[in-house]
Amino acid sequence: MTRRAAILVSGTGRHLEHLGTLATRGELDLEVGLCLSNKAGVLALERAEALAIPQLVLDPERQLNAAGFSHAAFTAIEDAGCDLVILAGFLRMLVVPPRWTGRVLNIHPSLLPAFGGKGYWGHHVHEAVLERGCQVTGCTVHVVDNEYDHGPILLQRTCPVEPNDTADTLAARVFDVERDAYPDAIRAYLQAEGA
Ligand code: GRF
Repeated sequence: MTRRAAILVSGTGRHLEHLGTLATRGELDLEVGLCLSNKAGVLALERAEALAIPQLVLDPERQLNAAGFSHAAFTAIEDAGCDLVILAGFLRMLVVPPRWTGRVLNIHPSLLPAFGGKGYWGHHVHEAVLERGCQVTGCTVHVVDNEYDHGPILLQRTCPVEPNDTADTLAARVFDVERDAYPDAIRAYLQAEGA
């Protein structure tokens, strides 16, 4: 049975667009039932619109605390009939309610547990990798628990760090790896779940 997923975003929505496109083409056995953003006016929402994915902007003024935001988010996700959550460039702390344990996935642009946790997002991750002199980096798809970048690892892919890399060139190389890693990990997850 096709699972219905909510994709949570905060920014550009490259993963949202790619996963949504694969789902539309039948190359990923998912229906995207909701794009939930904690920011208004972001490119991810335009990309969701273009794919006819229903959108919701939740608490853009940050008036809710993490628990309040999460409660509202999971209520909206359940109201949209979704039973899987995919974080894709989502930058707010989410408190996963017990009934959702094991059903929230994330992709992080490093080889966790290295360069993960609070403060490690976007270019900060790649700058830290360069500063440390790593020769290899990559991405990690994991199940989300209630600690940043911490839950069980589903899949990792690597790529080299080149001598003249900047945070931008490295981010682009890692994202190239992420593009296939996320759908591959989701397919394996769905298969393991017997979905
Ligand atoms: C990726 O680097 C991913 O690892 C991180 O957010 C970035 C993607 O954001 N979680 P987006 O899909 O372009 O919004």
